[in-house]
Amino acid sequence: MAERLYIFDTTLRDGEQSPGCSMDMEEKIRMAHGLAALGVDVIEAGFPVASPGDFAAVQRIAREISGPRIAGLARARKGDIEAAAKAVAPAGERQRIHTFIATSPIHMQAKLRMDEDQVVEQAVAAVKLARSLSPEVEFSAEDAGRSEMDFLCRIVEATIAAGARIINIPDTVGYMTPDEFGWRIRTLRERVPNADQAVFSVHCHNDLGLAVANSLAAVENGARQVECTINGMGERAGNAALEEIAMIFRTRSDRYCIETGIRHEKIVPTSKLASQITGMPVQPNKAIVGANAFAHESGIHQDGILKHQQTYEIMTPESVGWQTNRMVLGKHSGRAALKDRYAQLGAPVDGEQLDKVFARFKTLADKKKEVFDEDLLAILNDDADAVKERVRLISLHVASGTRDVPVAAVELEINGERHSATSHGDGPVDAAFKAIKSLVEPNGRLLLYSVNAITSGTDAQGEVTVRLEDGGRTVNGQGADTDIIVASVQAFIAALNRLPNTHAREVHAQYSGV
Ligand code: KIV
Ligand code: ZN
Repeated sequence: MAERLYIFDTTLRDGEQSPGCSMDMEEKIRMAHGLAALGVDVIEAGFPVASPGDFAAVQRIAREISGPRIAGLARARKGDIEAAAKAVAPAGERQRIHTFIATSPIHMQAKLRMDEDQVVEQAVAAVKLARSLSPEVEFSAEDAGRSEMDFLCRIVEATIAAGARIINIPDTVGYMTPDEFGWRIRTLRERVPNADQAVFSVHCHNDLGLAVANSLAAVENGARQVECTINGMGERAGNAALEEIAMIFRTRSDRYCIETGIRHEKIVPTSKLASQITGMPVQPNKAIVGANAFAHESGIHQDGILKHQQTYEIMTPESVGWQTNRMVLGKHSGRAALKDRYAQLGAPVDGEQLDKVFARFKTLADKKKEVFDEDLLAILNDDADAVKERVRLISLHVASGTRDVPVAAVELEINGERHSATSHGDGPVDAAFKAIKSLVEPNGRLLLYSVNAITSGTDAQGEVTVRLEDGGRTVNGQGADTDIIVASVQAFIAALNRLPNTHAREVHAQYSGV
């Protein structure tokens, strides 16, 4: 009988920590629903002490999401643990406090300024406090990959004795190689006397591109929980990619007698959900979820595939959720079909929200021959942004061509009042952005502007991501439309709406470029 590997998803915590990937409350809730539908065992919903927003999001996820366990991160400190306990409490029996302290010489000396005895004492106190507040406690030895083995054994033994039932061994800086990391897990399991009282977990970062390989080596040596993220999002080069871990054990069941609870056919929709929410595109050649992961270009490969799919494919695109039947819904589809499709995509909609997205779906279906899953997720994204609109696009007119200087005229509603401006620019997008900037404040510094055709054909929806920075805060906005300029303007406005205190510029006439 296959052994169970637990999938601990940290997209909403470590993933969300990566630059430009921050999510607001509604986005976190949508992502959490998607993760639950995917079948992860644990959702690390956030770091409750980090901010009131993080606390509220973890609490709401603990209240609303059924199925997976809900974990809240806490440093080994009283305030952090109390905040995490409160935030995850609504999950009842499914709550988990995840507490950590650094154990490598460089972290203890340079960061914590503590010696080994002090670190063990603080870790034990933290686990005991967490255990008094929650039925399940996970302890992480931060930077375990660079920690002294004797000390690692000592702190793991002490924290298990204090009540931790999951012991996480992070390769925080992505420094390990598979052999070394596998050896660490094996040694801990062999040398720590009470090792059998805990599940060993790993959390690998991808700085050398080895996060998945190191996680695999750890599982080969007895780890039974892997911490990972959708699309491998996470600090710096990211974390181990959930989709790769899950598909390794499914595809190579001849080699590993291990199974996960992941519903494989939901992998691609969940990847798309994460990418659309964060505005972080997936590289086309990314394993499993990249647009080219199942594309065959060379004649020899195409010929082979036509003769027998397994000549060049070790898993089918359908098994991970790529749609071969690309036509999903059209203009004759009804509300029930739309509702059902959103549920399958891991983004359930109902009631008033369903009414709104249905109206947008019909408009799009009138413009486009085919409406794909990507279109549906883009509609949902726009609708989520609409909830907190302070700035709204009323109209846009652009003129550009080979001989003319591009010009854009926009009319916006800003906090209920109409304003308009016209501007020239280096292109129609530049002109439209300049006109908007002349009306809205703050308007941030543009960090990223990216355009993606999210479906195929010249009537594809273009999806635009705009990232702005203002006063140290980074926000993303997305827009999708069959007209790229409209999508760009939508994305810019969505980002502006996420900047705090967006308001109409007081004197705007002189900024108008025309
Ligand atoms: O990378 C790391 O060490 C972490 C811990 C908090 C688990 O993210
Ligand atoms: Zn991490």
